[in-house]
Amino acid sequence: RGKRAFIAGVADDQGYGWAIAKQLAAAGAEILVGTWVPALNIFETSLRRGKFDASRKLPNGSLMEIAKVYPLDAVFDNLDDAPEDIKTNKRYAGHTKWTVEEVAESVKQDYGSIDILVHSLANGPEVTKPLLETSRRGYLAAISASSYSYVSLLKNFAPLMNAGGSCLSLTYIASEKIIPGYGGGMSSAKAALESDTRVLAYEAGRKHSIRVNTISAGPLRSRAAKAIGFIDDMINYSLANAPLQKELEAEDVGNAAAFLSSPLAASITGSVVYVDNGLHSMGLAT
Ligand code: NAI
Repeated sequence: RGKRAFIAGVADDQGYGWAIAKQLAAAGAEILVGTWVPALNIFETSLRRGKFDASRKLPNGSLMEIAKVYPLDAVFDNLDDAPEDIKTNKRYAGHTKWTVEEVAESVKQDYGSIDILVHSLANGPEVTKPLLETSRRGYLAAISASSYSYVSLLKNFAPLMNAGGSCLSLTYIASEKIIPGYGGGMSSAKAALESDTRVLAYEAGRKHSIRVNTISAGPLRSRAAKAIGFIDDMINYSLANAPLQKELEAEDVGNAAAFLSSPLAASITGSVVYVDNGLHSMGLAT
């Protein structure tokens, strides 16, 4: 039987989630995605109208199929968590079952089990503010959307994961080194995500025999990264300073994700794997 993957955080064809979905599809996996509710209508319309067809193309010439798109808002575990203004918001009111617990339940009903879980989402409302100017609310929102969302996904999906399964998230070097401009508590959120990767690897490894890793990715011009505002500078910095002086492609991260999700990586868990042209290992800008 082929593997089945659930990838949370795909809303266009520009980000890491899409690239990971593609490489998993190319390796033969069945693809389910979770798309942020406010972005869902436009994503599904674009998919239907063929706007992504060029980037759906797999190496064998066929187009990546997404078996099902689930509405998801990973900051809510169940409806009791969601405030009235979200429930009645017209972008949410047209959809149901978008909390983490409900999405896991729907996937279980639709497919029974999965083998691969990918968390490719982050949000920090105050990301453009320095940490010193970040509000408590903004900081906690960054942690909720970017770190706890992974704990919650794993908690709810691990019971549907087959033994030997793999969980992945995407992190950024700002967790361990100072990256001015990556503010709003996002650096803190990534540090939590990496620490949680180790603890979750232990807990989910013992309990469910699944693996938990995170990819520390280099800069990519995704929708989320463009919103931070300094992505071109980061790409140029990497080109100038990384051991490998080439632009990082989303596909490079997709390929590493496919490897980490495969039996080739059966003994790798609790790791932060750098896919960044080696930039993390430099100690001095050149
Ligand atoms: P992206 O814009 O393709 O992905 C972020 C996704 O998160 C979007 O689809 C957005 O709709 C979704 N999202 C936001 N809040 C959500 C919520 N509450 N519930 C469900 N979905 C939600 O951008 P990108 O850059 O590919 O981001 C994917 C991951 O890669 C993130 O964790 C990001 O921090 C990480 N990363 C990105 C780097 C970059 O340079 N682009 C570098 C290193 C890590």
